[in-house]
Amino acid sequence: MAKVLIVYCSMSGNTKAAAIAVAEGARSAKAQVIFKEGIEAQPQDLLDCTAVALGSYDAFSYMGGGLKDFLDRAFYPTQNQVTDKPYAAFLTHGGGGKAIGSIESVANSFKLKKIAEPVLVKGKPEGQVIADLKALGAKLAAAV
Ligand SMILES: Cc1cc2nc3c(=O)[nH]c(=O)nc-3n(C[C@H](O)[C@H](O)[C@H](O)COP(=O)(O)O)c2cc1C
Repeated sequence: MAKVLIVYCSMSGNTKAAAIAVAEGARSAKAQVIFKEGIEAQPQDLLDCTAVALGSYDAFSYMGGGLKDFLDRAFYPTQNQVTDKPYAAFLTHGGGGKAIGSIESVANSFKLKKIAEPVLVKGKPEGQVIADLKALGAKLAAAV
């Protein structure tokens, strides 16, 4: 069974709302979802999942500290054990969105395999972008 880890950080709720939509999409594709904020997620979560969604807000053109904290803590304990594990990223921003590059760069350091283009959301996710986030979750569920 697909087990999708959704690890994200959110200061004021926009990214959490995006993460919830990704989770709904993964569940609708019959995956088990592990839904965690970056500060509570553990390296073992990354080892245990079949695919991972990395979500953040844009913080000065870099990922937010909560996701960075998880990725820093997870790097050595998962090194060379998550090669080619499917991942996709989502980001909320205030009009910039450059932080997506930092997530993709770190995912590359983990040697994760990007299975979909990232979903970028300006502000709170609404309308079509909710559908895009759900589709991202469904792709991760199918990427086993
Ligand atoms: C400390 C801080 C720095 C930010 N820097 C940027 C930025 O460089 N570019 C941008 O587009 N938005 C920036 N924003 C806006 C947030 O990325 C945006 O409001 C986001 O949707 C917030 O997500 P959240 O509700 O999950 O916290 C920043 C917000 C904060 C709090």
